[in-house]
Amino acid sequence: MVLIKYKKELTEHLSFTEKKKSIGLVPTMGALHSGHTALVQRAAHENEVVVVSIFVNPTQFNNKKDLEKYPQTLKNDMDLLEKISKDILVFAPTVKEMYSNKVKSENYNFDGLENVMEGAFREGHFDGVGTIVEILLNSVKPDKAYFGEKDFQQLQIIRKLVEMRNIPVKIIGCPIVRESNGLALSSRNERLSHTVRNEAAFIFKTLTSAQRIFGTESAKNVKDWVTKQFKKHPDFELEYIEITEAATLKPIIRKQKNRKYRAFISAYADGVRLIDNIALN
Ligand code: PAF
Repeated sequence: MVLIKYKKELTEHLSFTEKKKSIGLVPTMGALHSGHTALVQRAAHENEVVVVSIFVNPTQFNNKKDLEKYPQTLKNDMDLLEKISKDILVFAPTVKEMYSNKVKSENYNFDGLENVMEGAFREGHFDGVGTIVEILLNSVKPDKAYFGEKDFQQLQIIRKLVEMRNIPVKIIGCPIVRESNGLALSSRNERLSHTVRNEAAFIFKTLTSAQRIFGTESAKNVKDWVTKQFKKHPDFELEYIEITEAATLKPIIRKQKNRKYRAFISAYADGVRLIDNIALN
């Protein structure tokens, strides 16, 4: 497997060695788990060359402690990727390489997609995500780039970024990978106690019930019902429950048959922030 640390080296490698081959990019922050490997496997299936970037992007953390606690496990990540394919190019640059001396994000207007849910609770987060994803797309110039639907809002924002900047890449959203009890995979799950990790099935169960109830009830009733379930559970604190139109992330006003809707939850357990979402129709 090739480990590349510099943008110039990456560009050279891709333009000389991989001329005319299709390139799939999987951007990650490392601490890889089966959610990431599902993206890499799909990328390997659909492209001749796969680049996995591993970069803990400082500008997307609004909480300094979260950034400090973020696991850095390059050796394990490489071992995991090697099991998928020995041909993967791993791009693991330093902060200086990505940002030079100005560790600062661009200021984007993503048509309001950035102001709700994660954007409302994590100030500047999507400016940081947009900045690093734009740098990565411009450095790797992939044909396709793969993102998980667990961060559905991020996925929609990246689609918007690509449209706004006219970047010639196809953005592929991949289904959420879950633990056997339904908890959406996240590197943060490691920080949960054994008991709470088991109990965290509650989040997905609540979402699947919400999906069922949405068939007959208004969005407001569904949200009230979800809020009540969380109030009854001593180990989980709900930060938000939102039901929006899937594409625009605009809050639902009145259900319409030809529109796709999605429910989004953010909640704290054991001091760990967990997010999840589900298609409602
Ligand atoms: O989803 C992530 O891991 C990150 O937000 C991403 C897309 C790699 C950008 O740093």
